[in-house]
Amino acid sequence: MANRRSIIAGNWKMNKTGAEARALAEAFVKEVGAFSGCDIVLCPPFTALEAVRAAIAGAKNIALGAQNVHFEASGAYTGEISVGMLKDAGCAYVIIGHSERRQYFAECDSLVNKKAKAALAGGLKPIVCVGETLDVRDAGGTEKLVRAQIAGGLAGLTAEQMASVVVAYEPVWAIGTGRTATPAQAQEVHGWIRDELKKLFGPAVAGATRIQYGGSVKASNTAELCGQPDIDGALVGGASLEAKGFADIVRAGAKG
Ligand code: PGA
Repeated sequence: MANRRSIIAGNWKMNKTGAEARALAEAFVKEVGAFSGCDIVLCPPFTALEAVRAAIAGAKNIALGAQNVHFEASGAYTGEISVGMLKDAGCAYVIIGHSERRQYFAECDSLVNKKAKAALAGGLKPIVCVGETLDVRDAGGTEKLVRAQIAGGLAGLTAEQMASVVVAYEPVWAIGTGRTATPAQAQEVHGWIRDELKKLFGPAVAGATRIQYGGSVKASNTAELCGQPDIDGALVGGASLEAKGFADIVRAGAKG
């Protein structure tokens, strides 16, 4: 097995005020602030970035991430946030192309690609999300769709840039539903993703790129999912909103 360091990220979605986020991050730091077994990322809403940044300031292994970004550097884009602003707020990572962005805000692979390029150009590490709906899975279209999402979302990136990219496979039918993909189902898709990365960027990049699983990850299923050969961590929604439970996921997801 390739020597990829696990990365566990918490996607808080549209939850937590500044004060609530700070309290959650502080409680989380008490649990795993000194844990070094894997990379950890907290992705609060924009308005809580500053509070979480302060709370994790002393925890070297916990990084800050945002949930979305605009691809332009500045200008008349009401309501949007730039890469430079996220860097200024202390972010190291940004989630791009989450299925909720694709579903409710019409984000497509070419927009994901623009955002990924902008993030990388500005020094942010993108967590690029892919995944199929239940309809697509039932119709046998998962492999084709996920390969297209990878090829489209990562088009034109260099091998050097790929060293800063994290991919997250999140089957839409498993997000927030309590219905997790089985480790075998997840591994199968992660294998396709790694194979697509190999076609696009060659074996060295494919072997080094970290691919997270996301979709109803909880402490009790993390170890088995992250124990699969091509699963290198987790992107966690609901279960990242509770400090102790998310810390348990972090500990379970570390595999070197
Ligand atoms: P969930 O969400 O863990 O609540 O299923 C995962 C995600 O959407 O990133």
